[in-house]
Amino acid sequence: PGTDPEQLRLLAVRLAAEAGRLLLEHRRGVVSVARTKSTATDVVTAADLAAERRVRELLAAERPDDGVLGEEEAALTGTSGLTWVVDPLDGTVNYLYGTGSYAVSVAVVAGPPRPDAWRAVAGAVLDVERGQTFSATAGGGARLDGPLPGGEHADGLPLEASGCTSLAACLLGTGFGYDAGVRAEQGRAVAELLPRVRDVRRVGAAALDLCMVAAGRLDAYVERGLHPWDHAAGVLVAREAGAVVTGPDGGPVDARLCVAAAPGVAAELDRAVRESGYSPHHLP
Ligand code: IPD
Repeated sequence: PGTDPEQLRLLAVRLAAEAGRLLLEHRRGVVSVARTKSTATDVVTAADLAAERRVRELLAAERPDDGVLGEEEAALTGTSGLTWVVDPLDGTVNYLYGTGSYAVSVAVVAGPPRPDAWRAVAGAVLDVERGQTFSATAGGGARLDGPLPGGEHADGLPLEASGCTSLAACLLGTGFGYDAGVRAEQGRAVAELLPRVRDVRRVGAAALDLCMVAAGRLDAYVERGLHPWDHAAGVLVAREAGAVVTGPDGGPVDARLCVAAAPGVAAELDRAVRESGYSPHHLP
């Protein structure tokens, strides 16, 4: 197996498509999931597991020397120096409730499989229900493939972050973790930012939030508490689309903080984030 970034991107796209097909298959026939919680939870578990298992099977057959870090199963250490970082279902709650906006996120990274130490090589995020694939290679730009509103079809459409130049005009995405204490802190931080921005959106899938910044559908995004598989592919896509993506104190993204912003608003947002409850000095 080679290390050509474009070949790796194509494989990431194919793995995401295969996982997405399984997610759609598992969702078929599931109605009123919000009202039948135990069944719904089982459905999600089955869908997540089946999608990740399939990705792992394909990788084992095609790239047996690579490592795999996925949300659902134990990490697999490889010998090639490359690791696939996989979220088989990002946006679990959207999937449960049938609100759309859930994704498969697949990235391949070089170096130690830790966000502060790895170098992302290629990645793909599939917005499963819209059939849109956001993908990128390091240094090769980010692209969109799939149907567009109005019946058009994107075929390698270059992605570009928005031209937003002020916080007051910034449409800001954010997200919340599952832990009550973390949520309380996130709520306080959002309350500080809300009066200073155009508005706030909670898409419900971190990988998609990052791709929305890449596509200029959000001007910026801020969240803390992400897992490596939530952001590995999306951060690469956003950066390759010209967004500025940082973690605590301007360093690499990690579990404490992920800020992605159109270049014209990045510095102002960075200051606002530092002043808000998202400041790393306020984080555990
Ligand atoms: C979650 C989603 C959500 C974000 C959370 C993530 P999951 O991932 O990306 O938007 O706010 O922090 O944990 O659980 O749906 O894979």
